[in-house]
Amino acid sequence: MARLVKTQVEMEGRYEERWTLVEEDVTPEYADGEELAVVGHPHTRVSAAARVTGGARFISDIDLPGMVHAAVLRSPHANARVASLDRAAAAALPGVRAVIGPGDVPERDGRPVLTDAPAYAGGAVAAVAADTPDQAERALEALAPGWEPLAFVVDLDEGLARQEFTEDPEETSRGDVDAALAGAAAVIEAEYRTPTQIQTPLEPHCAVAAWDAGGLTVWSSTQGIFAARDELARAFGLEPDDVRVVCEYMGGGFGGKQGCGPEGYMAAELARRAGRPVRLVYTRRDEHTTAGYRAPTVQTYRIGADADGKLVGVEGSAVIGVGVHGWVFPVLNPAEALYECAHVRSMVLPVKLNLGFSNAFRAPGVMEGTFGFEQALDELAEELGIDPLEIRLRNPAAIEQASGKPYTSKHLEACQRRVAELAGWKERDALRSDGRVRRGMGLASQIWWGGGGPPAHATVRLGKTARPTLVCGFQDIGTGTMTASAVVVAEALGVPVGHVRVQAGDTARSGYGPTSGGSMTLASVAPAVRTAAHDVRTQLLDLAADMFEIAASDLVLADGHVSSRDGTLRHEITEITSKLGNSSLVGHGSRGPNPDGMRVNTFGCQAAQIAVDTLTGAVTVEKVWAVHDVGRIVNPMGAMSQVTGGVLQAVGFALSEERVVDPTTGTVVNAGLEDYKVPTIADTPEIVCEFVDSPDPHLALGIKGLGEPPIIPTAAAIGNAFAHATGVRVRQAPFTPRRVLEALAG
Ligand code: MOS
Repeated sequence: MARLVKTQVEMEGRYEERWTLVEEDVTPEYADGEELAVVGHPHTRVSAAARVTGGARFISDIDLPGMVHAAVLRSPHANARVASLDRAAAAALPGVRAVIGPGDVPERDGRPVLTDAPAYAGGAVAAVAADTPDQAERALEALAPGWEPLAFVVDLDEGLARQEFTEDPEETSRGDVDAALAGAAAVIEAEYRTPTQIQTPLEPHCAVAAWDAGGLTVWSSTQGIFAARDELARAFGLEPDDVRVVCEYMGGGFGGKQGCGPEGYMAAELARRAGRPVRLVYTRRDEHTTAGYRAPTVQTYRIGADADGKLVGVEGSAVIGVGVHGWVFPVLNPAEALYECAHVRSMVLPVKLNLGFSNAFRAPGVMEGTFGFEQALDELAEELGIDPLEIRLRNPAAIEQASGKPYTSKHLEACQRRVAELAGWKERDALRSDGRVRRGMGLASQIWWGGGGPPAHATVRLGKTARPTLVCGFQDIGTGTMTASAVVVAEALGVPVGHVRVQAGDTARSGYGPTSGGSMTLASVAPAVRTAAHDVRTQLLDLAADMFEIAASDLVLADGHVSSRDGTLRHEITEITSKLGNSSLVGHGSRGPNPDGMRVNTFGCQAAQIAVDTLTGAVTVEKVWAVHDVGRIVNPMGAMSQVTGGVLQAVGFALSEERVVDPTTGTVVNAGLEDYKVPTIADTPEIVCEFVDSPDPHLALGIKGLGEPPIIPTAAAIGNAFAHATGVRVRQAPFTPRRVLEALAG
């Protein structure tokens, strides 16, 4: 029996009412405190062998018979009009199969994909497809565009002064902040600046498109195959199932590859005109100029507390350099939600600039907002003479204050206490010295969403060899969802994880799976996967009960065997499945809604120990302790790997990553991995990682998401450690040697 119910779904803090199909589900919850056989134990990636042997086929590896190659003409100017474009000359060159220009590609989100008015350097004007990449490049030259450069604004302060916004500035408030701050024992004011951080996936944005009688197939390096399918279907006037989107392996997205990017639209249009499959791969330069970024911010805080360190008022404003367009992410959410405070006012100003569009980057808004707010809070603690850990413990938020709703679970204070214990917080002053190298320790907290939700569907089938196949509509963007899903199947069917085959990343093969964003993939998918596997388990036990003439309820399935509870009967699962012949047991599962009237959030705390070389200005992050509350941990090895990646990206944000724009030309001057510095293995601190690992009592399997939480508090903890080490605050990330030396020089 299935019903349609209205439920609230969440993605990165945006809530939406949606009709949801709810299917009857008799799968029992894992018992309280039960030690599970497979879930919660470490497992290597199911795709490990394919990845290390080169067998894993990434999108840019796709090579189809007759496939031709695309190249894109991009504006070198920060703002321009294209007065002329010689398409005929390009089309006449050898090997050229298609030439497209402004107006030729369906719009994406109501905006042209190719335009004769590119409003940033990197804006796409035209594209070609040719037999070889060289021929495509020559065709671009033949287009010989006539540029008319226009005035531009790329500086955030200048943009703010001009009051040109991508959408109206928005103020939200509760209580009376001005009165509250007037009565506070201490008030600090602080301004923090955060950089433009590029997602820098190792695999750039890319797509291969091919048309046939059945419609359009696009191999897309995407975080959302179904979102990409629906976008392409709308754009090209097709039924959703006339579009097949495939993403089996992809080299990272980190937020910048949601849905189908312009590359998919251009590849599809070129392929349609060329009558051949087309591959379009962004250059590394494109990746830095026109594929999105974490928007830069200027955050200003006024925070006040009473003499005991109880927060009385929080005021924050965030100026965000959105670029030509982009989502406005919740930069001030940490200030609004992390601690209890009755009087809060926040103001967001999304500034329009002649720079590429910004988009999501792992914990968009919240990560950069935490960098500012969690340092401002340390400044307040210092003013009051209260230990930074202590001021956090004195201001716990019992509920989600914006909605007044309770959290399904919250163990933030346990994370804070555990981090302090692991890091030796009480003795942290012993790290300090007045030598050339100064050491210090700081900490910061994390709040994020990540409850997942419907819809998500899964199918499990089991045949004669008792090696189950899971078919599911998610895509594994490198996070380990395939492995965690295999773990859930293995738990239900009592087979080794390595015997579970996972087929994901193909819209033609499965029911819907969610976009991998908002830390929601596993929390959304795992319940459907478990239900599908449980369905097969029930069928298998019924067959065994028949065969062995025993009640199914007296049988257990584990270790590859069906056994009776009293231990008198024990048979390999294959004794039953081998009799299936060419039949298979097929189970189906879908994701139900989360409980109404509650908020699902993840929490955590990290501490960082750093060393500052006062002679060179070099900062080294020596050690990071991370404790997160993300509900049940399905695969501790995969979870640890997520934390490592998040911490490392935050180390880059804090110390070295920054898009630099030449104010005189409006162009990005470090559009490549030589000059845009992402951390390497040599910059990787020792990372100590623990989880509260307490299943959320209100969620199926007790799972909350982990994709974003680990990147959130690290940079703020590093900033606080810097102040502890040196007594000086650098208010602008990244802490480059120049900024460090200037700050130390006072
Ligand atoms: Mo979003 S940064 O893709 O979770």
